Order: sequence, then C-alpha cells, then structure tokens
Amino acid sequence: MEREMAGLRGCIMAAVIAIAPASIAQVAQPLAAPPVEALTGDPDAGAEFYATECKGCHAVSIAPTLRGVIGRPVASVAGFSGYSEALKAKAALAWTPETLDIFLKGPMDFAPGTLMTKAIEDAQVRADVIAYIATLPPPRS
Ligand code: HEC
Repeated sequence: MEREMAGLRGCIMAAVIAIAPASIAQVAQPLAAPPVEALTGDPDAGAEFYATECKGCHAVSIAPTLRGVIGRPVASVAGFSGYSEALKAKAALAWTPETLDIFLKGPMDFAPGTLMTKAIEDAQVRADVIAYIATLPPPRS
C-alpha cells in the first residue's frame, strides 16, 4: 500500500534540515508533561496498533506517509498537499521520538487546529507505535 504513495512523493529525504535543540525546548515547554517517557517501545505491539489505528489514513493519500518520518521536518512530505496551516506552522521542528511522543499524546496541544486528531493516551502504546514507525523504510523516490 505504501507503494501507491511512492509516486506522489518527491525526494523528501534531501529536505531534512538541522534544528536547534532550543526549538524542541520551545515546543516542549508549554506542554507541562515531560516530553520523553522512559519506556522501551515494542515494535511488534506497535505494528498491530498501527495496522488498526493509523494505517487506514496513513497508507492512503488522506494522510502523509509515515515512512522515514524520524528525522524529517514536520509537514514536509512533498507529495502530500493536505497539510493544515497549524501543522505547517511547526515546520521548523523535526520529527524525533520526543516530538512524536508529544504530538501523539495531544495533537491539538502540539499544533492547535491540526487535522490529525488521533491522540494516544497510553504512554506505553505511544512508545510502541513510535518504535514501529522507526522501523519503516524511507519512501522510494
Ligand atoms: C483519520 C485519519 C488519521 C488517522 C487515523 C491517523 N492520522 Fe496521522 N495524520 C492525519 C492527517 C490528515 C495528518 C496531517 C495533519 C495536518 O496537516 O494537520 C496526519 C499527520 C500525522 C503526522 C505528521 C506527519 C508529517 O508529515 O508531519 C504523524 C507523525 C501522524 N499523523 C501519526 C499518526 C499515527 C502514529 C497514527 C495512529 C496512532 C495516526 N497518525 C492516525 C490523519 C490521520
């Protein structure tokens, strides 16, 4: 299914930009909760969760691909034209396990107005799904 997306994307990996640690601190600060959970994610559990809770949108063109998401600037999939202004406003940040954890805990807190409304309350489940998406290969260009 990811293959269907491949044609839509440009060479997004080339667009990875360096971000200052300060920008992570800026986003983490207003969210009172600690950004990093001291949990080890189980990619197999994450794969199951992804298949039922994420894939329906993220494997098709209504959501950006999550292949290669770690290290990628926020809202930067070239072939995806449906990003909200809210998420695009965070484009100076990159997706790391930490920013993904903050986002998945409360997408609306991270980027008020985002179209991604799926929140994951359970910290272990967040760790699992992040561990899984970290195993996805980068998109083919
Ligand atoms: C109902 C459809 C839907 C579901 C289900 C969904 N998402 Fe999303 N997701 C979106 C949309 C739409 C966006 C773009 C949001 C925006 O631009 O505000 C998005 C954006 C994202 C982004 C940012 C990607 C980028 O390129 O910056 C991540 C990370 C993400 N989702 C992870 C997940 C995970 C993990 C799950 C499962 C727990 C999930 N999403 C479930 C629709 C969905």
